[in-house]
Amino acid sequence: MELIDSVIKEIEELDDALQKKYIPKSHYGIKTNLKPLWKLSKEKSNLLIKLTKQHNPKTILELGTSSGYSALNLRKASKTAKIYSIEFDEKKVELAKHHFNKAKVNIVVIQARVNNALNQWQEPLDLVFMDCDKNYLHYFNQLKPCLNPKALIIVDNYEKSNDITKMVKEEFNVREEIGLLFFHYDIAS
Ligand SMILES: C[S@@+](CC[C@H](N)C(=O)[O-])C[C@H]1O[C@@H](n2cnc3c(N)ncnc32)[C@H](O)[C@@H]1O
Repeated sequence: MELIDSVIKEIEELDDALQKKYIPKSHYGIKTNLKPLWKLSKEKSNLLIKLTKQHNPKTILELGTSSGYSALNLRKASKTAKIYSIEFDEKKVELAKHHFNKAKVNIVVIQARVNNALNQWQEPLDLVFMDCDKNYLHYFNQLKPCLNPKALIIVDNYEKSNDITKMVKEEFNVREEIGLLFFHYDIAS
């Protein structure tokens, strides 16, 4: 088993344990709390991997790191992309960094509120994965100037954010599968 797969498995076990309100041995001594990780399901992670592989992005931005589970799946899908992930919770940032170090992968965690980080964002992006609070339309509008043509946008739990769902369905060729909504930022569409 690859190192990255063993860390992904460890996070799945941590998530199970936290739901039963205990910390497993693998995470003794690591600053965490008993809050749920709200990580992606295995099924959604597999779709995230498939979409990322197909798109072959050079630069990826994730909104909502939590334990780093989905970011590690993004890294599994692309060994070479630059990956950034934004998270405001200090303990989650520490937990995610612990997992990235353990998996020996380079993923840049930005500890900030998404809104603040995106206000200053300048780097062109090929893929954005949104999995944080549900101000997705606002974040999408903030990111628009940095999206490369045909950038792939993937949104989790979009049904809780009616505004982005309505707008993108009117303006883009959107697909929905197992609770993920995704579309290419095609300004000509
Ligand atoms: C659903 S979880 C992310 C799960 C992660 N993508 C995964 O699958 O492993 C959402 C995370 O976003 C963080 N978050 C929510 N709103 C945020 C905001 N406005 N700015 C920064 N982080 C935020 C939460 O603290 C939480 O850790």
